[in-house]
Amino acid sequence: MAKIAIMGYGTVGAGVYKTLAMNKDAIKRRVGEEVTVKRILDLREFPGDPAEKLVTHEFTDILNDTEISVVVETMGGLKPSYPFTKQLLEAGKSVCTSNKELVAAHGVELRETAREHHVNYLFEASCGGGIPIIRVLNTALTAEEIEEVTGILNGTTNYILTSMAEEGKEFGDALKEAQEKGYAELHPEADVEGHDARRKIAILSSLAYGKHINWEEVPTEGITKVDKADIRYAKALDCKIKLLATSRREEKGIWALVAPMMIGSENPLTAVGGVMNAVMVKGNAVGTTMYYGSGAGSLPTASAVCGDVIDCVKHKGMTIRTEYSTENLTLLPVNEVPRPFFVRMKGNEEDAKKAFGSISQVIRLEGLEGEFGFLTEMMPEKTFREKLEKAEGVINWYRRGKMEEEQEA
Ligand code: HSE
Repeated sequence: MAKIAIMGYGTVGAGVYKTLAMNKDAIKRRVGEEVTVKRILDLREFPGDPAEKLVTHEFTDILNDTEISVVVETMGGLKPSYPFTKQLLEAGKSVCTSNKELVAAHGVELRETAREHHVNYLFEASCGGGIPIIRVLNTALTAEEIEEVTGILNGTTNYILTSMAEEGKEFGDALKEAQEKGYAELHPEADVEGHDARRKIAILSSLAYGKHINWEEVPTEGITKVDKADIRYAKALDCKIKLLATSRREEKGIWALVAPMMIGSENPLTAVGGVMNAVMVKGNAVGTTMYYGSGAGSLPTASAVCGDVIDCVKHKGMTIRTEYSTENLTLLPVNEVPRPFFVRMKGNEEDAKKAFGSISQVIRLEGLEGEFGFLTEMMPEKTFREKLEKAEGVINWYRRGKMEEEQEA
């Protein structure tokens, strides 16, 4: 029988306990032995909970228990999850986590520590919740040179943008509704400013391209500047505004970006609504592949954590080999990436042409007299920004995002 512990009995931690109990027989069949929870670390008590008696407030009850071989870390944040994880790995216990903050900040070091002690530090649940995207990059697509990773990796912002598009809500009202329904946190900055998606694309891209990407170096824009009128323009262009987290290999290197982009209905990511997540991965042999599912939530995220726990039990005494060098990757500036841009401005088409060169798909909307929207030609972002600086009357602008192969088509 494999004995495990859970640190942090919140939404995901409780989901792990529930999943292991609910699927006990299937897990035993697949692992060859039972996987049971021996201890739960939390500051709180849980009277009436089926796991009530397993709760401890002492980390050492887990650290010093030689029967416990795998520990689930679902505490979130860096303190005390970082020192706890480090000590557990050094004590020869594998750790499985949903904590993207910790993985993005100290994942490289913790993986090294795990390797030195012949155990595993696995983090499937840190990106895309229940979507097994990390396994895809670590196993299924290992014969590929990955050329691009693009995804909707944050459920909160996708819910807000979907509700703005489908119900005509303003950003503030959509956020309030998301908070009321429990989809957005009381302090939603990490989500709406794009930092959550930034951490996730840094983790996925590090795995995809084999070198470490510092999450803080990924240029990031959130969705707070998106307004109802922008969404009406997007609709008129048969587009949606989505917060895309993306990275792409070019001849000279790799760039990454998190930003709200206008994507056309030909892009399958436009069909990803509400709190759902999806990731597209393009390999040089396989072409474009896509993975879709619940990016958050108790049982979906717990499912990913449990998959990692099972992998650790199956690989007792050995570190599962994955391609992830400790070498840092310097990202190319996103300024050099060419694409068309959507611009919304006051004035007339002649002003727009003078400022941006040739323009297309001019849109004028009822109730928004005195302004219009249009697409520019394809140009490097640097050139666009130079033009933008000189242009007068610009109200807002977006990158027109596409998968690379569609741009070539
Ligand atoms: N806040 C995150 C989201 C939770 O909205 O996607 C899952 O990582």
